[in-house]
Amino acid sequence: MAIIVASILSADFTRLGEELAAVERAGADWVHVDVMDGHFVPNLAMGPMTVEAVRRSTSLPIDVHLMIEDPDLFVERFAKAGATHISVHAEATIHLIRSLELIRSCGCHPGIALGPAAPLSLVEWSLDHADYVDLLSVNPGFGGQDFQPSTLVKVHALGMELRRRGLATIIECDGGIGPMTIAAFSAAGVEAFVIGSALFAAADYGAVIGELREKAAAASPMLDPRVPS
Ligand code: DX5
Ligand code: ZN
Repeated sequence: MAIIVASILSADFTRLGEELAAVERAGADWVHVDVMDGHFVPNLAMGPMTVEAVRRSTSLPIDVHLMIEDPDLFVERFAKAGATHISVHAEATIHLIRSLELIRSCGCHPGIALGPAAPLSLVEWSLDHADYVDLLSVNPGFGGQDFQPSTLVKVHALGMELRRRGLATIIECDGGIGPMTIAAFSAAGVEAFVIGSALFAAADYGAVIGELREKAAAASPMLDPRVPS
């Protein structure tokens, strides 16, 4: 079944606790926290204190997406703040396996995030150290962007590689996913769908999550991995 991951980047921060309670009631599976340092991405957002506040407001798993340089410096603080999943960008850390092992040693599920322009070969030799791979389907840094269709080909290729190696690594996609696009992501092989603006802009979170699940389940697997026109 689809894992619906609510990205609070698009939540109303004046009512973060209520927003978290509402998405939990509406059936979201994980909460996604985007951390941005103004260097790796051209935006600033959230830190360990935000994760602590999220931890106090929900019992859902917390997926922390570190869009920061030198992520190893902060892994322990995010783990202590209550993260259950932490992803680091392969482009932002020199020794990716060391970063993933550090995340696991802090008691969290390690994830590899990869920007849309970064090749899959960057993660090839680290895949068996990760519990999930977050393929960014937009240039990281902002919510509300249209997704890059080439990501679907990348998802398909990653799925084939994971199956070839017998790995159960979860494929997550992040950016531009909503009721109009989720079927394409699901068909390509995505299992965890990060949803920001399409969820928090909706009047009824339960209805939109229901629609997302239905459309993800109805999609047939992509056979021909070409970039859709
Ligand atoms: C983008 C972030 C995403 C963002 C997705 O840099 O990593 O998590 O919240 O937002 P939407 O769903 O609006 O594209
Ligand atoms: Zn994210």
